[in-house]
Amino acid sequence: MQNQLLGKLKNYALSPTNLPGRFITNLFHRMWYRSPDTWRKNTFLGRRILQCPFDLHLYQEIIFKTKPSFILQTGVKWGGSILYFASLLDLINADPSAIVIGVDITLPTTVKDDLIHPRIRLIEGSSTASQTIEQIKMLLPASKGLVSLDSDHSQKHVSAELQLYCEFVEIGSYLVVEDTNINGHPVARLSGPGPFEAVENFLKTDNRFIRDNSLWQRNFFSFHQYGWLKRIN
Ligand SMILES: C[S@@+](CC[C@H](N)C(=O)[O-])C[C@H]1O[C@@H](n2cnc3c(N)ncnc32)[C@H](O)[C@@H]1O
Repeated sequence: MQNQLLGKLKNYALSPTNLPGRFITNLFHRMWYRSPDTWRKNTFLGRRILQCPFDLHLYQEIIFKTKPSFILQTGVKWGGSILYFASLLDLINADPSAIVIGVDITLPTTVKDDLIHPRIRLIEGSSTASQTIEQIKMLLPASKGLVSLDSDHSQKHVSAELQLYCEFVEIGSYLVVEDTNINGHPVARLSGPGPFEAVENFLKTDNRFIRDNSLWQRNFFSFHQYGWLKRIN
């Protein structure tokens, strides 16, 4: 009887879509997110990068597959992600015109002075300000590419960004809305409506984008789960 039960358990595949799998994954996700020693301490080539490595791996897959003409990210902070994107473009031998644009409301001197790479362009200003959008348009080598939103995580701000930045996404490429895991999805329960809620509303009105959940679900969780939006038309 005991052996039969053990046999059944062995064959039971835990997955991020069934209840026990979801429960365990969420527990681990919360523990990993809360720890002061995980994403808060991650660095890329010595530069702080506030990311979960699973997500960096997904960016790598997308960049290799879609070969974007540019990568645009709002929210630079210490610049780890910007440098990571620029390095990946180097690794895939992208054309020198393929640049990475980083937008942040405040760029620390260390970033302004030290984040030097032939592909990187930085803009200081709010991501939703009209001057910022104008500056972006002047820098872009092509009209469409890959976009990642990682600035102010309030629902209001992310919704405004989604309206402005969705136009920069190439068909077949991605609009990555970062940190959709906050406000209890499943971490930071008390943070208030944020990226997840902004995505929910955005998808109700814009049918050019779909959630590509299969992209991240094979790794069980993502800090940007349900926020990897693929442009399909
Ligand atoms: C989560 S951090 C970005 C982390 C970075 N993308 C990384 O992967 O390491 C968020 C950044 O957004 C910036 N920010 C906040 N409000 C903003 C706004 N309205 N426009 C542009 N940047 C903003 C902050 O200054 C901060 O540097």
